[in-house]
Amino acid sequence: MVVLLVLGLVPSLAAAQFNWEIISQKNYNMAKISGIWYSIFMASDNMTRIEENGDLRVFMRNINPLKNGSLKFDFFFMVHGECVAVTMVCEKTENYGEFTVAYEGENRVLLTETDYRMYITFYMQNIKNGTKTHVLALYGRLPVLSSSYLERFVNICKKYRLNAQNIIDLTNKDVCF
Ligand SMILES: *[C@@H]1O[C@H](CO)[C@@H](O)[C@H](O)[C@H]1NC(C)=O
Ligand SMILES: *[C@@H]1O[C@H](CO)[C@@H](O)[C@H](O)[C@H]1NC(C)=O
Ligand SMILES: *[C@@H]1O[C@H](CO)[C@@H](O)[C@H](O)[C@H]1NC(C)=O
Repeated sequence: MVVLLVLGLVPSLAAAQFNWEIISQKNYNMAKISGIWYSIFMASDNMTRIEENGDLRVFMRNINPLKNGSLKFDFFFMVHGECVAVTMVCEKTENYGEFTVAYEGENRVLLTETDYRMYITFYMQNIKNGTKTHVLALYGRLPVLSSSYLERFVNICKKYRLNAQNIIDLTNKDVCF
């Protein structure tokens, strides 16, 4: 019964359009970002790292703020065709919405915007072996989002000097389901 109700909801939510009026870009209510998120779009200035077999190509599952201010990410990534589950805890910094974590190098992770209900975006700066890489990600509450979210993501990427050709679409690419 519950399953039927959820399936009934999905098409109407997936059709939901990006809505300017309800986005937060600061003073986040971290409790409200808690829960299920799926990888929808990623972008990077080094495509090798987010394309197939890339070390930063991750399939998100859950994001949970912890009591001590850290932010926990649960995701999968592929190693030699196998799905590997990873839990990554990012430590808070003095800047609200900004975190640091050692994962495939040193990372600064910044929550850039969310509407809590449909999508959330993060910016990550990775330094691995002395090389700096910029990564942006958009996660959705549902595994599929309408194209209005891609337009939004293209705009966010521009702010970080990444072009549309630096974007990959992970919709339906998640074999770890
Ligand atoms: C891109 O990432 C790959 C894999 O980590 C690395 O070998 C390569 O040097 C990187 N390229 C640049 C321009 O940083
Ligand atoms: C916060 O709690 C998590 C989970 O218990 C732990 O892994 C992390 O190290 C803690 N961070 C700090 C700064 O205490
Ligand atoms: C790290 O960088 C050094 C110097 O650029 C290079 O010789 C070495 O192979 C790199 N190591 C890895 C694991 O990429």
